[in-house]
Amino acid sequence: MIRLEDVTFSYASSKPALSHVTLEISDGEFVAIIGENGAGKTTLVKHLNGLLKPESGRVLVCGVDSRETTVATLARKVGLVFQNPDHQLFAETVEKELAFALVNFGMPKEKVSEKVEWALEEFELKQYRSRSPFLLSGGERKRLALASVLCYDPEIVILDEPTTGQDSRQKHRLASLLKRLNEQGKTVLIVTHDIEFVSDYIPRVVVMSGGKLVADGPTGECLTRLELLERASLISPQLAEISWDLGLKSPSIDLDFVVAGINEMIRGLHG
Ligand SMILES: Nc1ncnc2c1ncn2[C@@H]1O[C@H](COP(=O)(O)OP(=O)(O)O)[C@@H](O)[C@H]1O
Ligand SMILES: [Mg+2]
Repeated sequence: MIRLEDVTFSYASSKPALSHVTLEISDGEFVAIIGENGAGKTTLVKHLNGLLKPESGRVLVCGVDSRETTVATLARKVGLVFQNPDHQLFAETVEKELAFALVNFGMPKEKVSEKVEWALEEFELKQYRSRSPFLLSGGERKRLALASVLCYDPEIVILDEPTTGQDSRQKHRLASLLKRLNEQGKTVLIVTHDIEFVSDYIPRVVVMSGGKLVADGPTGECLTRLELLERASLISPQLAEISWDLGLKSPSIDLDFVVAGINEMIRGLHG
């Protein structure tokens, strides 16, 4: 289980990137985190493998407080695929990149080759096995970053914007893989802008805005409401922002209230 309890975090001297975030994700769930650029999504997921530690509040992963363990220990359980693969990839060749964590975790040699072959096949990287990761395209690097985490089989899989640079066939392939992993009992958490991907595959959505968690619930419900917010932000980004603020004034977040506020403003704008 993943639990954030009233987590607040700021990067040096700026306004909080996470502000009083409370969130619980049970074992075996499949959850999407969505929200505008700068909403705090990446900051949130970096708390889940201990890369960042809360300034106040607590993060518990499988019952362990992230402040009382190391990134290395957490990494075995929590596979985090970075938003930017360049922050993750470092090996000389694609093959070595894939094998690195496996060898590091002490997996026997044959098992390592088996896993590497699986990843090369699954992520369509076979022809690049001896190539430097840095000579791959952005989309290929992204798939390699995904592959290198998924092949060591973490219990909790967290992917930060995994569909960037992927065509629709590759997205579909990734989605079925994630679905399969989830059906095998893994917890899958995915940060994405890709609403289509979310609505097709993911049962629960968490919405962030301005460092706060502003909605959390079944995908259908959340997205219907968000559509209204998006329409509002097409008219004016400020308007959407005001609307979020409006909704956030009430301590328990009531998205209906936000949507009603926006509708009122839209009506006002149109006459
Ligand atoms: N390394 C950093 N140093 C300073 N500010 C940062 C850093 N990373 C992110 N931020 C800021 O924190 C906020 C949240 O960023 P981030 O978590 O990356 O959002 P998202 O992933 O939702 O786009 C933004 O205002 C961003 O500019
Ligand atoms: Mg991000």
